[in-house]
Amino acid sequence: MSRTTAVHIDLAAISENIRTLRRGLAAHQFMAVVKADAFGHGAVQVAKHIEASVDALAVAFTEEAVALREMGVSAPLLILEGPHTASDLALAGKLNLWPVIHSDEQIEWCKTLGADLSQAWIKIDTGMHRLGFAAERYAGVRDILLSYGIGEITAMSHLASAEEPDDALTRAQLLSWEETVRHGQDTTSLHNSAATQRGLSASSDWVRVGYALYGGQIKGLPNPAPLRPAMRFSSSVIALRDVPIGESVGYRGRWTAQRDSVIATVPVGYGDGYPWGAADGTPVEIDGEIAPLAGQVSMDMVTVDVTDCPNLTLGAPAVLWGDQPSIDDVAEHCGTIGYELMTRLTSRANRIYHT
Ligand SMILES: Cc1ncc(COP(=O)(O)O)c(C=O)c1O
Repeated sequence: MSRTTAVHIDLAAISENIRTLRRGLAAHQFMAVVKADAFGHGAVQVAKHIEASVDALAVAFTEEAVALREMGVSAPLLILEGPHTASDLALAGKLNLWPVIHSDEQIEWCKTLGADLSQAWIKIDTGMHRLGFAAERYAGVRDILLSYGIGEITAMSHLASAEEPDDALTRAQLLSWEETVRHGQDTTSLHNSAATQRGLSASSDWVRVGYALYGGQIKGLPNPAPLRPAMRFSSSVIALRDVPIGESVGYRGRWTAQRDSVIATVPVGYGDGYPWGAADGTPVEIDGEIAPLAGQVSMDMVTVDVTDCPNLTLGAPAVLWGDQPSIDDVAEHCGTIGYELMTRLTSRANRIYHT
């Protein structure tokens, strides 16, 4: 079989990113977020590769945690959405998972099942209004959970715009957070990638890092210690054709040649997770040169204007994202974010792991 389209995952880059991020931290404990199949990088492969170099892992829901335990991952595992049912909570006790508790219903389940939990994290809604208890309820919830025999409590919250520390919402969230946790003895966790990379000054004994692990670069953040992209989505050229001035390319003839042009066809499309919404001009690396996407993305193919890439031959390598173009650059041309591009890849393109 000869399809060259593949998603290469550089596990060593993830390890290096952890070391880079840790260098900028003081005594923080490091939680690696491996939800959504480790942002499309393969949760089992990533978790197994990094579990010894982090303090804990996090997933979104219980099924993701159970799948990791079944594959032999033994690091502490936080369930960010907490249990959806009482039986999820029972599993947390059995498998040593740390549930996030954010609702009264979950507190009720803890009455009978809490004694089996080594830890629970209480989610405080400091202003994102997605999950969590109002800040003034924190102390009461904490006392109830401890009375049910839960071993240890960590206070957590999540920032809606950590990349913008001066934003009014961020400032309001930080105020609410510090007022809630300042005098408590519990450990705390606030920082995501952006807060960690910014060195945001706020209580956060634990950092919970997702996107930065994989080398994603959130727009507007300082990047003093560059992170390495762990994902390279690549393919190769299967057709080259001359397209005369005035002729169009692809579905609905969206792109029209403004000069006599050369178009390369690359066998990757939205069926693999390359975004259908990619605009003309989205960067693609062809044989080491950046060239612009030309025409609507098809299910299985994209077309690229390679008029300015001399001496191209069939089989020339193509990179949809990786070192260049970065996934964040591509996302900007597609009206989305790199997080979505990482996690929307389908299983159609082979994952190839490098250590
Ligand atoms: C509650 C929570 N904590 C931490 C993270 C990690 O965020 P990031 O990937 O920006 O580091 C996420 C990601 O969505 C999250 O939902």
